[in-house]
Parts: sequence; C-alpha cells; structure tokens
Amino acid sequence: MNYIGTPISRVDGQAKVTGQAKYAGDVNVPGLVFGAVVTSTIAKGRIKSIDTSAALKVKGVLKVLTHKNRPALPKSDQAWKDDIAPGGSPFRPLYDDKVMFSGQPVALVLAEEWETARYAASLVHVEYAAKPHITDLQAAREKAFTLKKSKKPRGDAAKAFSSAEVRHEAEYFIPTEHHNPMELFASTAIPEKRGKLTVYDKTQGVQNVHRYLCSVFKKKKGDIRVMSPFMGGGFGSGLRPQYQVVLAVMGALTLKRPVRLMLTRQQMYGLGYRPASIERLQLGAQRDGTLHAITHEAIVVTSQFEEFSSSDTEWADRLYKSPNAKFVHKLARLDVPTSCDMRAPGATTGVYGLECAMDELAVALKLDPVELRLRCYSDKDQSVNLPYTSKNLRECYQQGAKAFGWEKRNPVPRSMRDGNELVGWGMATGVWEALQMPAAARIVLGANGHAEISCATSDIGTGTYTIMAQVAADALGLPIENIGIKLGDSTLPQSPVEGGSWMAASVSHAILGVADEVRKTLFDAAKKIKGSPLSGVKFEDVTLSDGKIVSKKDPARAMTIAHVMRERRLDRIEKEKLHKFKKDEKHARNTHSAIFAEVKIDEELGVIRVTRVVNAVAAGRILNTKTARSQIMGGVVWGIGMALHEETAYDHKFGRIMNANIAEYHMPVNADIHDIEVIFVDEPDEHINPLGIKGVGEIGIVGTAAAIANAVYHATGVRVRDLPITLDKLRR
Ligand code: MOS
Repeated sequence: MNYIGTPISRVDGQAKVTGQAKYAGDVNVPGLVFGAVVTSTIAKGRIKSIDTSAALKVKGVLKVLTHKNRPALPKSDQAWKDDIAPGGSPFRPLYDDKVMFSGQPVALVLAEEWETARYAASLVHVEYAAKPHITDLQAAREKAFTLKKSKKPRGDAAKAFSSAEVRHEAEYFIPTEHHNPMELFASTAIPEKRGKLTVYDKTQGVQNVHRYLCSVFKKKKGDIRVMSPFMGGGFGSGLRPQYQVVLAVMGALTLKRPVRLMLTRQQMYGLGYRPASIERLQLGAQRDGTLHAITHEAIVVTSQFEEFSSSDTEWADRLYKSPNAKFVHKLARLDVPTSCDMRAPGATTGVYGLECAMDELAVALKLDPVELRLRCYSDKDQSVNLPYTSKNLRECYQQGAKAFGWEKRNPVPRSMRDGNELVGWGMATGVWEALQMPAAARIVLGANGHAEISCATSDIGTGTYTIMAQVAADALGLPIENIGIKLGDSTLPQSPVEGGSWMAASVSHAILGVADEVRKTLFDAAKKIKGSPLSGVKFEDVTLSDGKIVSKKDPARAMTIAHVMRERRLDRIEKEKLHKFKKDEKHARNTHSAIFAEVKIDEELGVIRVTRVVNAVAAGRILNTKTARSQIMGGVVWGIGMALHEETAYDHKFGRIMNANIAEYHMPVNADIHDIEVIFVDEPDEHINPLGIKGVGEIGIVGTAAAIANAVYHATGVRVRDLPITLDKLRR
C-alpha cells in the first residue's frame, strides 16, 4: 500500500483555499431569488396574526409566505420523518399557527436581492397569544421520564454502593451547547425543466435529504436531485434535514424561480443543539481500587414534540469492571427545538460525568487516577459480555502518560506552581463507537489510466475525499493523481449520512469491494490476450500495482492496465457494488483514548489556560495520519471549549437564547490553544473489517473536558462540576 496510512494533504484543499469549491449558499444561477426568514419571539403559544403588508410594499419583494398562504403540504407527520428522526412528531416549518420554540420560522420573505429580503423581513409584524413556557432543565427535571428502552440493571448497584468501603456520589452538569459550524445552513433550490428540481443543500446526507424532500413535496425519486459537494463543518447539525431546505423548495415551487435561503448566525441557534444534561454518578469501590457499583443516571433535554436521545450512561460498561451497574436515561421536555447529535453525542457529556467521578474516586482512594483506571480495566464490554475486536487502551494510558511526563506529578492539589500560576495535571479516558454501515461505490476506469470513484457520501470537512482517493489509488494500483472523486450528489451510489465516525470504514470497504470487480474484469481480459503472461495464474494471486495487473507470486508476470484495455478494446470499465459488512456477534467495537491535560491558573484572578494536552488514541488503522490528527486536534480544541467556554445561555423568563451569536457564545480562539499532541497508538485489528479501520471523527472530544476539569481541581483544590468552568466558579 503506497497511500493508506500516509499523511497526504487534502485532495480538495486547493479547491477550498482558492474558492473554487462551491458551498450550498454559493451557487449562482440567473434569476436567483433570495429568501429571509422571520422567526418567533415567543417560546410557546399561537400566532394570532401576521401582517405582511409593510414587507410587501418594499420594492423588490416578490412574496411573503406564512402558514396562511404556503403551498399545500402533507398533513401526515410521517411525511416529515427523515431516516434518523427520533420518535415523535417532526417540526414542520410554516405548517400552522402553533409556536413551539423561540426562533421558530414563522414567515419567509422572497425578494430580488438578499438585502431587500432581510429588510422586508424586519417589517413583518406578528401578533402572538403566548402560553407559559419552560426552558430550564433544572426546573423540569422532576418531570423527566425514562425511555422505554432503558437497560436492565446488572446485579444490585444500590446495595453494593451502600456497602462499599469508599463511595463517591455527585452530579455533573453540562449546559446546552451549539455546533456553530463556520458555514451557515443554506439551500439553493433550482427548478429545472419538466417540474424537476435541483437542490444544493448544506447536509451530511444528500440521499437522506432527497428522500425527505420527495416525501414532503410528494415528488418522484427522479424529480429531485440533492447536491452537497462541500460542507463547512457539520458536527451532527447536518444529519437531519433542516427547515431552510423545505422553505427554499417551497419558495422555488411557489415562484417557479431559483431560490437561495441562507440562515443568519442568530437563526442557527434555532436549530438542533447538544442538549443540556445532568449526569448523576454513584461509584462504590473497595480500598484496593476495584469497583463494585456503578450507577449513572442522565437527565437530558428534548423538545415537547420529539424524543431525541443518545447513549449518555452506558460508557462505564465499556471501560470499568463492576459486578453491579445501573444505567438510567431520562428525558426532560422543554419548549425548545429538538436536541440533536453533536460530535460524539452522549459520550461527550456522559463520559465527562463518568471521568470526573472516577477522578474524585481516585482522590478518595488516595490512588493515582491512571492506576485506578488500570485496576478497573475491563477487557470486555460488560453490557453485552463480549471482548473487543481490539482495545489498546492500556497502551494509550502508557504512551500518553510518558509523553506528558505524568510520573512527575505531585498528587497533592495546589502543590505545583509556575510563578503566579497554579499548575494542575489531570487525565481522563475517552471511548466511542467503531461503527460501519452498508455503502456502495462506483469505479469508472478509463483506458488512459484515470479512475473516477463515486459515492453519495458527504465530506463534512473530515477528509473523506482524501481517504477515498488513497484507498482507491492503492486498490487500483494507480498514482493518486489519477484518481478523481465524486461525492455529495443524491444520484450517486448509496451512502448513509456521514456521521457517527462510520464513514471512513464504510466507504473504504465499498471502494475495496468494487475495486475487486474491476480487478476481476481486467484479469479476465488479460488472460484472453494471446501469449498473456498471466495465463495459468489464479485470480486470488493477482493484484493491481504500479499501473499493472501482476502476479503476487511472480512479479515478472505482469501486464500494464493500459495495454490490457487497449488490446481488448475496452475504453472504460465501469463497476458499482454495495458493500455490506459481515455480522460479528462475538465482539464489541470501540475506539479508546487517554487524555492528559495541563492547566495553569492565575491564583488571584482565576484565569485558566490549558497549556498542554496529550491525547493518545487507539482507533485501529489510521488511513491518513495528517487528516486524522486534525480530527483529534479539532476534538481536543472543542473539549477545551466545552470545559472552559461554551454555554448556550437562556433567559428563561422569555425562553430565549441570550448569546445567539459567536461573539457572546464563547468558543476557543487561537489565543486559548497551546500545545496539543496527538498520539496514534498502534492497534492492528483483524476482526473489525479487512482494513482494520475504526474511524476518528469523534473520539478526540470524548474525555477531553473531564481531563481539563480534573486538572483544574488538581491545580486549585476546587471541584467545579458544572460546565463551563469559568473563573467566577473558582472564586466562590
Ligand atoms: Mo456526528 S454527531 O455523527 O455528525
């Protein structure tokens, strides 16, 4: 393999930095109409009236759509359900007069210019009949309900906890956070001939959006094409179709003109988000540092109309041995949009609680936090009682600790200093899923030795274009310059949404599978050539390498691909294949990591700096060490944001977000980021899939906030359990 495992730069990098890469809101067509959304100012109630007359008087305004005059839409909830919709009744923009959250779209202004549309939107006057709302998780927690699918407890955790020699019990809080991708949600809907429609949409799944639009607008499969060749960050916010795509299509169908609708940064806060959660942990241990009881209960925000949930609580079962365990996941309904997936959904929050609790237990046991984790280390996923396809977490602890210099740590809080600053060293474990999904790929190999690879996947910024090119180049034995990649088009071969860290494994094996078909065709053709050096060679023994079809046993027996195709008069070989992974019911599949963090805290002011982070990751085979490292670094940066900066702040009196902009929603900036070291621990995995790929999109954030919170405790002796850890909380 020449390309897999190397740090190749992004194949789409040049298009991106030169502006040639067109995003959903960049698409320009003649006669383009611009949309602007009007959003609700109350959190719950009814629209009494909407006065659009002032907006309609503005020169250049073409139409104002509201629930009163929108085109006909299906009444059935089911028509509005996308592939990954949670239970309940999905939100339908401009459907009726009901207001279910603040920031809900209530009108769409369509105009010849974007500025005109925005100005006219400010003139739309809405009268509401407000009802009492609730947006505060703490106020709603008593009414939280358990999902039916909650897991059966193992043993008796309550009893084991009460008889444990050392106990730790605490509640951790993570506020609502938003994805804040650079690219705003945007769609450009373009009517084509014969009632067809092309839609450029910011999404993590073009085929998902395609199915959704077909069902909402009662269109046939061939009538709509959804394109998303580039995406400026998704993080889960683009897994579900967002309302702007419905509104853009509604506008285009109404006016029979192309419509572009881009949300404002403020309006982005009216979409899904990482739900606020309360993580309640009970850990019971014996003096020797073995765990005997784990209880993890999460109370997580959802909307009044859907039940979004991810797995917050069961991560302990993948990490720490305990004969007794109980996991409870509760949802609290608030008058807000439905929460959604956001980078490592469930694990980011749940493991934060778990790993802070483990740190507190280590303190109570007077045990080094790494040592505690080694004493509880589980070689099995206890929830299913299965060993892992691979789990080199021990090496993560070891290599991470060594790179960090952990052995020099004085365990006593406030014992380490650097001038005016208190120094704190903390660590945590990370864990995420290693999933894989059916996906298809197509290869078109030309006689000129150029191959085009296509799949309907997205590249949400993770590097999918690049790893596809690497895998294809190796599988076809061609230089990477000869590989072209097409993705982000609903008409291309089947792909799941890009998420859950499953795309690298899924699309790579789709390419391997179809490359096999190409090899077979070439082999059959080569054998038919008179005096073929490959006659008598078995198919299993030939490989494609260096532009040749060649016997693995005797490299002298070879023919160039170009020669074979020329001789057999083949100008192209085109193959498409759906790849499904073999079921493996004997193993659990996860990625793991160990994170070590250093903070320096000004003793008088309480200002916290994260000066060093080492994140040691075991995630099977790393396809591209550069883009993978970037994924982990991005996750670490976000972990720093989660620990110290990020919070979607509500004014519960109005049920509105107070900091719906990236000036007041604090995210880490360059000045907040210091040294980040990423280590990929060698982890051969022969069970998970042929290439041993696990995916790295999400593992980088998991555990990072806990490592930092634990470092803050070590520096100051103050345990802050509610995020973000702002300086006022240290001064209490
Ligand atoms: Mo990710 S939260 O699965 O896009």
